[in-house]
Amino acid sequence: MSRIVFLNGSFLPIEEAKVPFMDRGFMFGDGVYEGVGVLEGRLVDNDAHLERLERSLREVRIPNPYTRAEWTHLEEELVRRNGVTEGFVYFQVTRGVAERDFMFPENAVPTVAMFTQVKAILDAPAARTGIAVVTVPDLRWKRRDIKSLNLLAQVLAKQAAREAGAQEAWMVEDGFVTEGGSSSGFIITREGRVVVRPLSNAILPGITRKALLALSKDAGIELEERLFTVDEAYDAAEAFLTSASMFVVPIVSIDGRAIGNGKPGPITKKLRDIYIRMATAPRMAAE
Ligand code: PDD
Repeated sequence: MSRIVFLNGSFLPIEEAKVPFMDRGFMFGDGVYEGVGVLEGRLVDNDAHLERLERSLREVRIPNPYTRAEWTHLEEELVRRNGVTEGFVYFQVTRGVAERDFMFPENAVPTVAMFTQVKAILDAPAARTGIAVVTVPDLRWKRRDIKSLNLLAQVLAKQAAREAGAQEAWMVEDGFVTEGGSSSGFIITREGRVVVRPLSNAILPGITRKALLALSKDAGIELEERLFTVDEAYDAAEAFLTSASMFVVPIVSIDGRAIGNGKPGPITKKLRDIYIRMATAPRMAAE
């Protein structure tokens, strides 16, 4: 079966999906995107992702081409057409096609592109063994709360991680961890408190982060939303990341230093289980 993508109103084989040369997404990275996990063929926490998409579009003043119901229908249809049971749906909206000029074009129509990826989430090796992380300076702009297409700093950060034998980069600003290259970062102190950076323009408001905060509160796990330093992270009992395509994944080393005993920790495992339970029972999703 050929891979089907969605482009500007049509479902097409990927080979036929062409974006014009002067698309502002290509020329300027002038657009925003979303990514939603798929489990058992269903979208995980999709409404929260669409809410964030609406906000990203508003913040960069690109008109939203679809209602929430229309977006959901397109995502579900693409998942169905590609037979995805476990993986990821990616969708992006750019300001459209116009002669290269920085100011907003007068009559451009937003470009909408969507694809799926098949990916093991529940049985991912990273979830079983944990991953290594390295820290890098956070080189990004000051509106990281917008899920912008401009990902050059993250591309460089994650490539540096790979070259150091790690699977994710934790970006650092003024000595404090902001977040992962494509994930939210958490530590668990030796006292058993789960610590995560509070929302601000310095980080993306992770949807998995948000759901996990609500779920862990319900499970009676102690939470602290505050900044944490790299040294605190080195000294943590456990650490983990969250993202729509990985859920909750243990971190077993940071900059080559073992976290805790260097194995996935019990609280992280419990949080992963709690999240998976929510994701496999979408009607009970955390609000
Ligand atoms: N990345 N922080 C950043 C910088 C991210 O890019 C992501 C997601 C997250 C986690 O957010 P969420 O839980 O909503 O996925 C945090 C996606 C998965 C990506 O770019 O592939």
